[in-house]
Amino acid sequence: MGERLQKYLSAAGIASRRKSEEFITAGRVTINDKVAQLGDKVEAGDVVKLDGKVAEAQDKMVYLMLHKPEGYITSTHDQFNRPDVMALIPKTYPRVYPIGRLDYDTSGMLLLTNDGALTQALTHPSHQAEKVYVAKVKGTPTEKEIEAFSTGLDIEGERTAPASLKVTNPDQNGASSVKITLREGRNRQVRKMCEAIGHPVVFLKRIATGGIYLGELKRGQVRELTSAEVSRLKRYEKS
Ligand code: URA
Repeated sequence: MGERLQKYLSAAGIASRRKSEEFITAGRVTINDKVAQLGDKVEAGDVVKLDGKVAEAQDKMVYLMLHKPEGYITSTHDQFNRPDVMALIPKTYPRVYPIGRLDYDTSGMLLLTNDGALTQALTHPSHQAEKVYVAKVKGTPTEKEIEAFSTGLDIEGERTAPASLKVTNPDQNGASSVKITLREGRNRQVRKMCEAIGHPVVFLKRIATGGIYLGELKRGQVRELTSAEVSRLKRYEKS
């Protein structure tokens, strides 16, 4: 049996799967002191080394959910010196990284982990996890516009994958509440899609990712995922 070497390395938090493949191809990885090849498998008891150092999971895997408030960036470097989400993660946790991103002006669920394999599975372009948003948009989308949103829109020369938009509360002083479900994660995608059907977003919040819900978590608060939630997300590693 055994586990593919690149999967072993990414699960140990050493590097992403793609980066691990590069390390293997470059001859930097050994199994039991023999230079490994792409496609090699790791069996129980094998000693894997990267650049001569034993490669094993140093940190325990951590899976966190943050209710990101508006006014924080998801990346860790910002030319404008705006606060980033890492400032909201207690220092008692090992270093974690956001799974995907939310815009500066979007609030809601952001998952963070040091599990490289899971991050890769959830953000893979061809089978991204489903994400659910609630939004307020200008005006009230018509049936025809909702249909266009669902079947695909042309955004910067690329067609969007099937998505869904439901109006949950129309006509509130010229705006409507909507619920949006997407499987893609292009930059500012919800905003661009709503703009494309003529109903710009005035408020945007993510409430779910891959079947995991934000629930009652308060703005700015962090919690660990339950083991049931982690198992639910890990199903994406097999798809
Ligand atoms: N779509 C957006 O437009 N913004 C986000 O933050 C997430 C999805």
